[in-house]
Amino acid sequence: MSNSKIWKGNSTFILAAAGSAVGLGNIWKFPYMVGSNGGSAFVIVYLFCILIIGLPVMASEIIIGKYGRKSPINSLKKISIDFQLNKGWKYLGVLGAFAGVLILSYYSVFAGIAFSYVFNIFPSGLENPSKYSTNYFSSFAASPLKLILWHSIFIIFTCFIVGYGVVKGIGRSVSFLMPIFFIFIIMIAIYSSLIGDIDSTLFFLFNPNFSALTPQVIVSAMGQAFFSLSIGMGAIMAYGAYIPENQLIGKTVLSIILLDTFVALIAGIAIFPIVFSNSDLMINAGPSLIFETLPVAFYSLPFGNIFSVLFFVLLSIAALSSSISLLEPFTAWMEEKFKTERRIIVCILGLLIWVIGLGSIFSFNIGQEIKFFGFNFLEGLDYLTNNIMLPMGGFFIALLTGWVLPKSFLIKYLNIKKSLFKPLYFSLRYISIGAILLIFLYSAFL
Ligand code: PHE
Repeated sequence: MSNSKIWKGNSTFILAAAGSAVGLGNIWKFPYMVGSNGGSAFVIVYLFCILIIGLPVMASEIIIGKYGRKSPINSLKKISIDFQLNKGWKYLGVLGAFAGVLILSYYSVFAGIAFSYVFNIFPSGLENPSKYSTNYFSSFAASPLKLILWHSIFIIFTCFIVGYGVVKGIGRSVSFLMPIFFIFIIMIAIYSSLIGDIDSTLFFLFNPNFSALTPQVIVSAMGQAFFSLSIGMGAIMAYGAYIPENQLIGKTVLSIILLDTFVALIAGIAIFPIVFSNSDLMINAGPSLIFETLPVAFYSLPFGNIFSVLFFVLLSIAALSSSISLLEPFTAWMEEKFKTERRIIVCILGLLIWVIGLGSIFSFNIGQEIKFFGFNFLEGLDYLTNNIMLPMGGFFIALLTGWVLPKSFLIKYLNIKKSLFKPLYFSLRYISIGAILLIFLYSAFL
């Protein structure tokens, strides 16, 4: 691998991986999942999964990528050849690459909506902004053409950057946009706490309520942990291929995980005070929650329009730095396999993703009634990817590094203190794998 393909400096990998992790999953999905799954019970399981499963799986993905220095599929292939393992391990990469494409197909629909909100300026003098906001979203979602337009725009942006090359395309831009985004979301959280109902929010998020802890909540919380950390499908593995040789992986993983969790919780604190203080907003609104809630907060804010525009621009960029990591594993693999121009590959993949995305778009409107096993297209795809494909990927990644590869490989590539290695190794071999197995069985048979 040439030097131009290694991230410049240690912080670039952290920022790129954090850019992948922090996205709609934190700002859009986390709040609505918490809202629809009973609050604190979900949050507690989520935090547990982040630590117990997320940490070891993310570290495993990075070291596989770093060892292989190729696309996830070919890094796995290289490992299986070098360590004389079963050739089937590369299919773990194939599973991930497909998961990425499927996730991107609906991710881009919501990212498109987020981007369209840059231009959604509320008229002044509204009597009931919450009602206006919910009506606006419903009529937007009822129009397939509008959704298709924004979905297309977002796919084009994603393909453009990935076609240009991830290292060149995002290496530089993430390093200054991410910090601005963090500051911004913290500011909104502070503002919402001041104008909204922060007491109910904190109670809802953190007061343990184990009666809400159904198997379905556990499964969803685990799925959300995978989704939010971008693990289980090779995105982090693909980025690991560009990590500088001497970067400390333990510290890196910890920073990414802390950052990601922090942003999700702050997003909750930005959204819920507004919901709790507005009877027109529903806590269990589902995917529309932030689109109905945030504009209401901005509406009451002095210079709110300017803040709203800025916020949705930054959110779109955060979504973009995640969506490119969804497309990267498949693209890098095709590039190696067919020795074709990246630009041509992303055009083909982009078209495919665009078409699959139509299914999710129609789930809001003309295809609402079409259901398989009680799920509409979007719900089904979301369930398949988050609750089945990502955990399955994570399970096999943990199996590979925890049980199949020699311990010495892990010691050498992880390069962390012995006192830290021991609990991590134990957790990888027993707790993470056990927990993932549970979620997997739950989601498959519930
Ligand atoms: N983690 C991203 C987010 O929170 C989504 C994502 C999932 C990205 C899986 C890559 C892989 O928005």
